[in-house]
Amino acid sequence: MSYQREFEKRVNVGIIGVGSHCYRNILPVMNFLPVRIKAVCDINEDLAKLTALQYGCSYYRNSKDMYEKEDIQAVFICVGPQFHPKLVIEALDAGLHVWVEKPIATRAYEVEEMLSHRRDRIVVVGLKKSFMPATQKAIEVVNSPKYGNLRSILGVYHMTIPENGQQELDNKGTPNWLRNGVHPLAFLMAVGGRVSSVTAHTNSFGNGAFIMQFANGAIGNLHMSSGPQPNMENYGVYGDKWQMEINDTKVTLHRGIPFNYSKTTSYIPEGDDSGAVVWNTSNCLATLENKALFTQGFYNETMYFCECVLQGKKPDKGTLEFALDMMKVYEAGLASKGKTIYID
Ligand SMILES: NC(=O)c1ccc[n+]([C@@H]2O[C@H](COP(=O)([O-])OP(=O)(O)OC[C@H]3O[C@@H](n4cnc5c(N)ncnc54)[C@H](O)[C@@H]3O)[C@@H](O)[C@H]2O)c1
Repeated sequence: MSYQREFEKRVNVGIIGVGSHCYRNILPVMNFLPVRIKAVCDINEDLAKLTALQYGCSYYRNSKDMYEKEDIQAVFICVGPQFHPKLVIEALDAGLHVWVEKPIATRAYEVEEMLSHRRDRIVVVGLKKSFMPATQKAIEVVNSPKYGNLRSILGVYHMTIPENGQQELDNKGTPNWLRNGVHPLAFLMAVGGRVSSVTAHTNSFGNGAFIMQFANGAIGNLHMSSGPQPNMENYGVYGDKWQMEINDTKVTLHRGIPFNYSKTTSYIPEGDDSGAVVWNTSNCLATLENKALFTQGFYNETMYFCECVLQGKKPDKGTLEFALDMMKVYEAGLASKGKTIYID
């Protein structure tokens, strides 16, 4: 682990959209990345200027001007789903590598358009829940010979699907199902893989159950819950002989005990290869692993992008293809209304 000022090799970057989220999370995570911030760009010139002053870089109101005048290899784009497609394509056409925040777009076809402009450029989409350390552990367990055999996945997320799905699609809307639904979808699809069909059952409030059939035979259930924020998200991953629970930063792998119904007399057998393994953060030290930038996946997703750029490596996580699959599931969710929608 190195800090920005320690890296020998760094990527010259520009940052587009220095609003609320960028200032809270994306600019702070730059401290830990091999980057040199050359410029920021925002149509709000005051914001761009103030931010540039703080970070000791240039500022622009227009991304094209930034591309013409600055010596940059990559951009971080953090604006909003209505604007991302145009900005991503413009950056790719200018020959730049692109990291773009979620949601990538409002429609799946816009991601297909981005793909047609990508050529050999590196694009990583900021789907932090697919990069969370907890998600990486779930993927490791699901793919390990020791555990494997994924059967089902549960996501519980504070979420609704709007009643007027077709209207949202036609108007390129940005419902909560898009803005925040991408978070649990990113987890479920990073762990479960491609989805072949979805069925959404909702009540009059839009809460409900979103059933996903994965191509590998597993089944997923995204329970779109109500309830108070910010405690709003849980996951369960189930294999035939193990279960994993993710509650906030706490990850528990249940391995069970040697068990014989009506014969077993102790729930604590000898040895340490049964029972549960628990991982959790501790908040008593001013270290990195317990910070939201690290626990939620911001560091992993942005560092992965920088490593791909520096090593000329084609990404296989957070790709445009993965984002396209997710957008198809998002659109199917809007169209479902209790019917099963098959995804090619
Ligand atoms: N991953 C997460 O946890 C998370 C959390 C919050 C927001 N987000 C995402 O971050 C993105 C930004 O959200 P936000 O809350 O910061 O919004 P925001 O409105 O505060 O910031 C967006 C900024 O982009 C600027 N902008 C708009 N059009 C532009 C253009 N063409 N060129 C340059 N700048 C332009 C705006 O002036 C604004 O400052 C959204 O996609 C949102 O979904 C992600």
